[in-house]
Amino acid sequence: MSASAAFPVLAHAETGARAPADPRQRFAQLGQWLGREPSWACIDPPNGLVHSLDQPRLNYEELCPLVRQVVGGHEAVAVVDQEPLLVVAVPLPAHLTPGSVWVALDCYLTAPCPPQQYLEPIRPWVQDVEQFLQWAAGQSVVPPTMAMRLLQMATERLHQEIQSQQLGREVEQLCEQLCRTYEEISLLYRLTHNLALNTQEEKLAATAVEWIGQILPAQGLAIYLPPRQWSDSRGGQLWSSGSFPLDRRQARKLVDYLQLGTQRSPCLLNHPRQQFPDWPFAEIQELIAVPIYESERFFGWMLAVNHTFGGEFGTAEVDLLQSISTILGIHRGNALYYREQGELLTGIVRSLTSAIDAKDPYTHGHSDRVARVAVRLARRLGCDSRTVDTIYLAGLLHDIGKIGIDERVLRKPGRLTPEEFEHIKQHTIIGYEILQDIKQLRHVLPVVLHHHEAWDGSGYPHGLAGENIPYLARVVAVADAFDAMSSDRPYRKGMDDQKLDTVIRQGAGKQWDPRVVEAFFACRDEIRRVSRLKPEEDPIELRIWPSL
Ligand SMILES: [Fe+2]
Ligand SMILES: [Fe+2]
Repeated sequence: MSASAAFPVLAHAETGARAPADPRQRFAQLGQWLGREPSWACIDPPNGLVHSLDQPRLNYEELCPLVRQVVGGHEAVAVVDQEPLLVVAVPLPAHLTPGSVWVALDCYLTAPCPPQQYLEPIRPWVQDVEQFLQWAAGQSVVPPTMAMRLLQMATERLHQEIQSQQLGREVEQLCEQLCRTYEEISLLYRLTHNLALNTQEEKLAATAVEWIGQILPAQGLAIYLPPRQWSDSRGGQLWSSGSFPLDRRQARKLVDYLQLGTQRSPCLLNHPRQQFPDWPFAEIQELIAVPIYESERFFGWMLAVNHTFGGEFGTAEVDLLQSISTILGIHRGNALYYREQGELLTGIVRSLTSAIDAKDPYTHGHSDRVARVAVRLARRLGCDSRTVDTIYLAGLLHDIGKIGIDERVLRKPGRLTPEEFEHIKQHTIIGYEILQDIKQLRHVLPVVLHHHEAWDGSGYPHGLAGENIPYLARVVAVADAFDAMSSDRPYRKGMDDQKLDTVIRQGAGKQWDPRVVEAFFACRDEIRRVSRLKPEEDPIELRIWPSL
């Protein structure tokens, strides 16, 4: 490649345009298609730049106005057709020469070259006749029509190839975009799916940052929840993945520094030093901070730092983080709401239990002990954790109907008259009626109604027998009887262990479900131990699951 003095090649760099692919390769390709050694020049009409290759040096200043006419076209055009010289201009597609508009010039010898004195007609187009003659000596004569046809075909092929390359690139980009979108959708799906199964926000946050790290081109990711009281110096909570350079205290400083406050819009910062000359977080070159909200409730931020490929973050990354933060915000809002509802309900259950104790001080703590003993039986019977939670709740509430029983009957020492016993039996039905309208407690109703049924059908209120008695009611029945018989009353001492064991053993298959009795004896020592503990010495979390 050489350059004329008038149009230095280096000047191309001064235009600020991206360096083009080596034009010689393209010329060589065109030459191959044409079946001849190419003799090309390349001209950039707006800038007057020239690359030339094995050709007569042309008078480019003269040619420029003619060449301009072909810019943007797709066809080869003869710009000089003066025997024996044919100069054809071929517009090169813009993709080939980004930042410039280039036109290739091909020269042909269209007749045997006459002596120098006969070359007057082509003098305006060539810089040096001597050099032209040298060039012509190495050329074959090509008729102009053939030259034009050849060039048209080559030009067409060139444009087709460029178009097909461009199409290929577009398909490639589309595939990349599709893959990215698929990964994003898959991440959002996995997150939402995980929400349904797992309500623990710590685990969710840790999982989320781990997964996002797999698809977002960021070196470090974090979820930062500030302390409830901003003045709290502990700095809040932070879950991170990858190379996240800050701990929770530094994350808090970052939030302070950028004055993110509780602003709702995301913060996108590339090259922070340009904006903040005193930028104190040297490890952070790019940053996205997206707030996590649920309705009006603000929880914290998702933070992504440092683009993996040394690039900049853009709207695609911000959009993805916003989608994820919306999901996390909704989940956290729901979790808080769920927890508040749960706390309210457990408060109500505790109050109801206290109300029973207040009504019947002789059996003080009975409901709580029955609940804790029933939990041991349920675990021994292999119940899942949700059933164990239900049985604990059912144990606490099983005698709730006693609220509606006459205190004089409840507190009566000694034997009850048949009428009084009939009255006290009503507590199962009253309890059922008290709780039946509380949707969240519906799953304990079978226990409240049937905990006095007997395996042989002799119990109350419905005289159910065997497996017709709800399973959890059969479990609570044993715990209930154990506590009633083992507890002291003002008018009698609690039964000793040996006698109690005998009564329960004899009641298997008559009063109680034999399998529950078997479970009782399998964990009898533990049951005795926990029944002597105060509730605070044997704490069990009261978890209320929504009714199915
Ligand atoms: Fe009862
Ligand atoms: Fe009871």
